[in-house]
Amino acid sequence: MQTFRVELGARAYPVHVGVHLLDEVGKLALEAGLHGGRVALVTDANVGPLYFERVADALSTAKFDPIRIQIASGEGSKSLAMVEQLYDRMVEGRLDRNSAVFALGGGVVGDLAGFAAATFLRGLALVQIPTTLTGQVDSALGGKTGVNHRQGKNLIGAFHEPRLIVADVETLTTLGEREFREGLAEVIKYGAIMDATMIDDLERDLPAIMAREPRPMEEIVERSLRHKATVVERDEAESGLRKILNFGHTVGHAIEASSGFGHYLHGEAVAIGMMAAARLSQTYAGLRAVDAERLRALLKMAALPVEMPSQWASENFASALNLDKKRSGSNIEFILIDRIGHALTYKLDSEQIIAELSAD
Ligand SMILES: NC(=O)c1ccc[n+]([C@@H]2O[C@H](COP(=O)([O-])OP(=O)(O)OC[C@H]3O[C@@H](n4cnc5c(N)ncnc54)[C@H](O)[C@@H]3O)[C@@H](O)[C@H]2O)c1
Ligand SMILES: [Zn+2]
Repeated sequence: MQTFRVELGARAYPVHVGVHLLDEVGKLALEAGLHGGRVALVTDANVGPLYFERVADALSTAKFDPIRIQIASGEGSKSLAMVEQLYDRMVEGRLDRNSAVFALGGGVVGDLAGFAAATFLRGLALVQIPTTLTGQVDSALGGKTGVNHRQGKNLIGAFHEPRLIVADVETLTTLGEREFREGLAEVIKYGAIMDATMIDDLERDLPAIMAREPRPMEEIVERSLRHKATVVERDEAESGLRKILNFGHTVGHAIEASSGFGHYLHGEAVAIGMMAAARLSQTYAGLRAVDAERLRALLKMAALPVEMPSQWASENFASALNLDKKRSGSNIEFILIDRIGHALTYKLDSEQIIAELSAD
């Protein structure tokens, strides 16, 4: 097991990455200062049958009394209606201010249960037990919780850091192939923006990671989370540095929105978006062609898409680009890399982006 702390002053918390950790959740929660007693254990319909029992047992052994809440799986559950259902169960279960919420699942469960924890009784302790690669390397850490509105994703939310993260990489062995690969896009992103050596190591270790060998998975999850922690520690509110985590996401979001949500998984769209950003980086930040090529080769090794979808240059794409949250004034704050392992922000307008991506 690897353990480190996210240093956020009074809100600092431990992160554990390893194997067999689901059975340790109760003990680790007590060590993190949580009170035993009534807690909510939230999961979804895919994760529940696989891991609910083990985590519930681990909690009971440590004198927690979990009420079990299983939601439908999928993005559709990230809704205010579902939050209300969680509140109902939490009221029924007589959770009080000493109670905690345990989120066992992917980013959907983490964001939803996290938002319920952030708001119920003005805030309950939250424990993230991510079971997807995206959850383990990205969504569990950093305090962003929330749900969707019919007008857009993640429009309703709150910052609420967990009190503990337990990432058991063994859970990743039951994850679907496509879901696992999309998580690799976020892993490669950390290397591209802040850790050149990680790209070297991924070039060597990716086959073992894709074979889901515990050791290399543990290594890469821990390294990714440490990078995210470093960024969040310096800029929790996303006023500056944290924006570099959006590498590949400006074009990625526009692809997701203009190709109809659901066509590409988020990580797949981000993979394409990272190659688009690499291309723009060559023009505007002096990224060498060989380095863009290395990134492409690595994404392809992870079986991720790297080419813009056919007929991407639509009005929908342009308006999705302009809608991007990161937009400031008439320009888009775009994340580029000037070399592998180093990111910078650069203002571009949507015409420049589209022109560059259209050029042969
Ligand atoms: N809060 C943040 O900072 C942040 C960051 C990135 C993404 N997100 C959010 O996360 C969500 C996406 O998360 P996700 O990619 O984890 O998707 P997800 O939670 O929908 O999980 C993907 C699928 O895998 C299943 N699953 C989960 N763990 C499994 C396991 N171990 N074995 C078998 N099946 C398993 C789920 O039931 C689901 O069907 C989005 O809503 C996104 O907005 C949030
Ligand atoms: Zn992402």
